Amino acid sequence: MLEIFIFSIALCIIVLITKRILLRSKLQSLKNKHVVITGGSSGIGKCVAIEAAASGANVTLIARDVKKLESAVSEVKKHCLNHEDQKVQYISLDVSENYDEIEKVLHGAEDEIGPISMLVNCAGMAICGRLEDTSVNDIKYLLNLNFLGTLFPIKAVISRMKGRGEGRIVIVASQAAMLGIYGYTVYSSTKFALRGLAESLHMEVKPYNISVTLSLPPDTDTPGFANEEKSKPMETRLISQSAGIVSPEVVAKQIMKDALTGNFYSTVGSEGFMLTTLCAGMAPVSSVLELITQVSLMGIMRLVSVHYLMSFHRIIRKCMKTRNQTKKSE
Ligand SMILES: *[C@@H]1O[C@H](CO)[C@@H](O)[C@H](O)[C@H]1NC(C)=O
Ligand SMILES: *[C@@H]1O[C@H](CO)[C@@H](O)[C@H](O)[C@H]1NC(C)=O
Ligand SMILES: *[C@@H]1O[C@H](CO)[C@@H](O)[C@H](O)[C@H]1NC(C)=O
Repeated sequence: MLEIFIFSIALCIIVLITKRILLRSKLQSLKNKHVVITGGSSGIGKCVAIEAAASGANVTLIARDVKKLESAVSEVKKHCLNHEDQKVQYISLDVSENYDEIEKVLHGAEDEIGPISMLVNCAGMAICGRLEDTSVNDIKYLLNLNFLGTLFPIKAVISRMKGRGEGRIVIVASQAAMLGIYGYTVYSSTKFALRGLAESLHMEVKPYNISVTLSLPPDTDTPGFANEEKSKPMETRLISQSAGIVSPEVVAKQIMKDALTGNFYSTVGSEGFMLTTLCAGMAPVSSVLELITQVSLMGIMRLVSVHYLMSFHRIIRKCMKTRNQTKKSE
């Protein structure tokens, strides 16, 4: 098992290096373009906004909390290329509730600062817990925010993008969109839904010169993650312990790069690479190199994944024993 693991890691490294050399092409500038970011007041969303401002875009941040939005706007402004010309503004809006309101607000933003060239959907959150321990309210809240909160803003901008024959849609999901994990029963379901949305939407909008990018970040060091930690069952914490935690800046930089290149998947780290290769299935092909990688590594990665799965099940059995013992001693 260890040999297979080392072999596939070595292959990953070779592929990643080749990719880096081949993809050193110049990225398009965002000068004069309008970038809208939902969930833009903190975490990955705020960092994407900073990246957009640093490449010359006019930026609209969308979130609910006005105080957080105000402080995010002043932070993003500092990164503008051209302080007189570039506009950074915020709109306080709940993207998960009233579709008509969302459409009105987004069209209003277009009339004010110009057509939306890029929509980055970062609004979302995680509540962990086994299914029987998750309240119906929390289930509905997660489904509305993570799924509808992404679908509604896209629906509101897509027909104008099609009309202009230009646009980029970014959907920020999670690695939990590629695999189910103990304690993520509801969260993971909502993120799998985003994967279906991204794949179908890509097929609908490709002829109109619109790209769709699905970002699959690992655990990221954000305020949302700190909150999520509190609700994690012991099993979930032990399973996800093996993976590291990345900074939102790194995730945001990668999102910008992949969106501007028009890549379908956006991931950071070797785990993200493994997951997207393993789970490519019927996902769009972004490059010949990516396709060759997937075809040659998928089989071996399936073996590696079984090794991980077995260790997850061992953890769960061990925790079950501990739970039984504490129950008995009570
Ligand atoms: C958008 O940004 C450009 C500079 O990149 C600027 O010239 C333009 O006036 C901005 N649009 C608005 C409505 O502020
Ligand atoms: C396609 O979209 C990109 C930006 O998203 C734009 O630069 C390019 O001109 C568009 N191509 C066509 C053929 O309209
Ligand atoms: C824990 O208890 C349940 C019954 O309450 C039992 O079915 C299960 O086998 C026990 N598991 C372990 C690992 O002891």
